[in-house]
Amino acid sequence: MANPRLLFPLLLSVLAIASATVYFEERFDDGWENRWVKSDWKKDENMAGEWNFTSGKWNGDPNDKGIQTSEDYRFYAISSEFPEFSNKEKTLVFQFSVKHEQKLDCGGGYMKLLSGEVDQKKFGGDTPYSIMFGPDICGYSTKKVHAILTYNDTNHLIKKDVPCETDQLTHLYTFIIRPDATYSILIDNEEKQTGSLYSDWSLLPAKQIKDPEAKKPEDWDDKEYIPDPEDQKPEGYDDIQKEIPDPDAKKPEDWDDEEDGEWTIPTIPNPEYKGPWKPKKIKNPNYKGKWKAPMIDNPDFKDDPDLYVFPNLKYVGIELWQVKSGTMFDNVLITDDPEYAKKVAEETWGKNKDAEKAAFEEAEKKREEEEKKDDPIDSDAEDEDDADADDGEGEDSDADDKSEDVADTKEDEDVHDEL
Ligand SMILES: *[C@@H]1O[C@H](CO)[C@@H](O)[C@H](O)[C@H]1NC(C)=O
Ligand SMILES: *[C@@H]1O[C@H](CO)[C@@H](O)[C@H](O)[C@H]1NC(C)=O
Repeated sequence: MANPRLLFPLLLSVLAIASATVYFEERFDDGWENRWVKSDWKKDENMAGEWNFTSGKWNGDPNDKGIQTSEDYRFYAISSEFPEFSNKEKTLVFQFSVKHEQKLDCGGGYMKLLSGEVDQKKFGGDTPYSIMFGPDICGYSTKKVHAILTYNDTNHLIKKDVPCETDQLTHLYTFIIRPDATYSILIDNEEKQTGSLYSDWSLLPAKQIKDPEAKKPEDWDDKEYIPDPEDQKPEGYDDIQKEIPDPDAKKPEDWDDEEDGEWTIPTIPNPEYKGPWKPKKIKNPNYKGKWKAPMIDNPDFKDDPDLYVFPNLKYVGIELWQVKSGTMFDNVLITDDPEYAKKVAEETWGKNKDAEKAAFEEAEKKREEEEKKDDPIDSDAEDEDDADADDGEGEDSDADDKSEDVADTKEDEDVHDEL
């Protein structure tokens, strides 16, 4: 017979999942275009990029599609509406997956939550948002997870560094904000950062400040080391000369006192000389440590118990500039239940990640082989090595490469002729 005590925790977790409120969930199935609005932002300038509905060049499930930026040097803006809600007294979970199939050197992979009324056709870089979350990469210096909270009409960046993933595989980003004003940031279901909205953003003025009135007491001894009063200058110390006559110097044989003047012995530094005498330093027995002003309550601080609350969340959007396209978004979820988010994560990203990795490695192998073929200098050098190791096959490909070589050279010449 089953032990009822073992059943109990299982039941609890089922209940927890059953009670999840899902504000928004998009797995990008057919019909997604009816739920999302492509903005006209940057269209006039011909700078609005197209989205590709695809499972990508490598994936764990070819039927699982997302939306991918498909044109280089373009702005992207797209959004979806959901029934307005407030996260007051509730946990807020914002989760999505992102994959940079291009080797992203500069571009964002973040999403935004917007509040109030937004003209989705005009959604763009200037549209106010409530939360911006997700990876951002630019050069070697920026490889971070953005977690921007808008408070009192001001965007506040997280003060902690949260590194993002930089490879070409799908990763899952989760932002959790709780009613006790704590938060967590997860990547691939693993917590990467956690803390308080009070300390990790500067949403409110600091709770405590250094007392501006406080002064260091006159008798505060903050010298850690002092000269040893017991230490005494050794007798004869000051008689030691800085320079001494060079004991190895000899008057040159052809020196003529009358013509050359009186010969003087050159001097050299005295190895015994140690500079002016200074007493040894010892630890100061009266040392009180560095003085610090005492902290007092900041008169400008006014607590806001609703610091974590976004009362009118209503849209989720992607607004990006991409130099190199290929960023793919999928499995967007907004819920009040981290457990449910975890479950969805396992069903989607978790289920496909190993197969996707294998597919990526296969694609990389192919790409490297293609590159070898396309690069005659490299392949020539390698073919020579190969020819020693195995005959037969190697010779055929040698011949192929040579003819390609000729073609390449000819093309080059043509170009030069034109110039
Ligand atoms: C969309 O993505 C697929 C898979 O990577 C690719 O074959 C296709 O060319 C893309 N289409 C556009 C318009 O970029
Ligand atoms: C909100 O912003 C205004 C204008 O910048 C500022 O004067 C006010 O102190 C801010 N309030 C809080 C609670 O930060």
